[in-house]
Amino acid sequence: MCGIVGYVGKGNAAPFLVEGLKKLEYRGYDSAGIALINDGKFVCKKRKGTVAEISDAADLCSGIGIGHTRWATHGAPSERNAHPHIYGRFAIVHNGILENYALLKEQLESDGETFISETDSEVVAHLLEKFYCGNLLSALREVTEKLVGSYALAVLCLDQPDIIVCARKASPLLVGVKEGACLIASDIPAIAGEGVTAYLLGDGEFALLNAAEAKFYSPQLQPIRKNQLEYDPLISSSDKGGYVHFMKKEMSEIPCSVRNSICDFATKLKFSDFYQVLCQTKYIHIVACGTAYHSGLAVKYAIERLARVPVEVTIASEFRYSNPVICSGTLAIAISQSGETADTLAAAKLFRAKSVPLVAVTNVSYSSLTRIADFVLPTRAGSEIGVAATKSYNAQLTVLYSLAIALENAKGKSGKSLERLKRLPRLATATLEAAETVRSWTSHFVGARCVLFIGRGADYCAAVEGSLKLKEITYLPSEGYPAGELKHGTLALVDERTPVVVLLTNKRLAAKTMNAVHEAAARGAKVFLITSIAEYLENEEVFASVLIPQCSEAFTPLLSVIPLQALAYYTAIACGNDPDKPRNLAKSVTVE
Ligand code: M6R
Repeated sequence: MCGIVGYVGKGNAAPFLVEGLKKLEYRGYDSAGIALINDGKFVCKKRKGTVAEISDAADLCSGIGIGHTRWATHGAPSERNAHPHIYGRFAIVHNGILENYALLKEQLESDGETFISETDSEVVAHLLEKFYCGNLLSALREVTEKLVGSYALAVLCLDQPDIIVCARKASPLLVGVKEGACLIASDIPAIAGEGVTAYLLGDGEFALLNAAEAKFYSPQLQPIRKNQLEYDPLISSSDKGGYVHFMKKEMSEIPCSVRNSICDFATKLKFSDFYQVLCQTKYIHIVACGTAYHSGLAVKYAIERLARVPVEVTIASEFRYSNPVICSGTLAIAISQSGETADTLAAAKLFRAKSVPLVAVTNVSYSSLTRIADFVLPTRAGSEIGVAATKSYNAQLTVLYSLAIALENAKGKSGKSLERLKRLPRLATATLEAAETVRSWTSHFVGARCVLFIGRGADYCAAVEGSLKLKEITYLPSEGYPAGELKHGTLALVDERTPVVVLLTNKRLAAKTMNAVHEAAARGAKVFLITSIAEYLENEEVFASVLIPQCSEAFTPLLSVIPLQALAYYTAIACGNDPDKPRNLAKSVTVE
């Protein structure tokens, strides 16, 4: 959802800006640009497309600059709409959405101002020019008071060519300080490095950076001291480690992410506040978006099975406006890899406003979600750069299964679940190996009219995630559907151009799921089976199959999703797409 960077120091800004933007490209790649100050003038290079389009800008010389990689919200992806936006003495970069920009623009235009871009962000440069009377911070504060929406802003001014000023509200912004330079970025990977001390700018706060130091200010512009940000070097690393794509590398890290994310809450936290909350919990309400929502669906199955606590799972953007009925004894769980998804944050805040205890399940320890939650259950997946979530899904499931086991324990139902959970990293390694088979399936998927993913119970939860993965990186129409529901309408889609991927890991439900296989095969569909039950491999209606390891029924999506992730990955490549950068998407969606 756009990434911003900035550098002021004794060294050269441009190489840092270009490299920093590359590390933030997961946030958007519709256009990229940097602006520097050189000899009292702005030097700006921006292009439509990825940061690679401005790679040669790294040769520009200056000790100060800002940069931006864009996920388009207002105005098409184009050079004209690319940031930085320059007006008069100001250059700005913005991450977020200004909800009242149309009104502000109209007022500025009626004052005779002309706009170059169709973006919401350009108004900031115009307003700065209007309010600036020699004090850059005061002008920025005055401008932000006019803004409704979310923003992380970095500003250059020709009158003060040695400083960058920044402001932030509801979009992340980090400041890095090292010997001889100060840096800013939307996320840690862009600034992390030897000798860099990082600080998180809080909501409503401002920062002023020069080559020697970073100063921080409250919303009222009072100087404030900030604590250094402790960050996990795992989270901050962002290279492909010899793989062609981040997605493949990140899939290979699933076993490790699962191993690191297992938590024995029941023993570790016994007698803690959190354990007391679990003992008193009567209902669980989960909110999340996309893949994280699918984790919620899968864990509902596990919690209800293991702890017999009822669970409701709601898409965060729907929850907000649904006037939800919240029963006493509810525990809220917000799941978000980034911890910055605007809809999830808004839903989480709604729980907070109703004094419901809030658990955050997130991969980013310094995220906004972390800061509003009562309890934080970290997923330890490490940095995930590929836009398509893979290892973070498996890590979310692991943490949430650990929570399900703690609940099971808190409700006096202890069993062997933890031992079973601890087997998953090894089983995930075996599943990754087995999943390579799907590489040979891709020719049957490229050009398909529609792809169906079906299953029952926990298999259905994995099916919906498999479908999302396929559609987001291959652009093939696809649906994840309960196997038993197919005959109530969706079967009309099925013909010989509709591959049907069937998940079958539950012996109790297998015969019923096979009914859907018969129905699909009878209509000419090729059936691709992912199963842990060997006897179904040779079924004559099955066109191709993968045998995955067996695991506890409550945990099966953690394994069965792996061949689905691989199928999406290899099909995307066969379609000629870059699986790491699907069109129209960004990894972190910080707008509502
Ligand atoms: O950072 P979050 O987990 O809150 O992101 C939520 C969704 O945008 C995300 O899971 C998205 O659906 C995936 N990138 C899809 O692979």
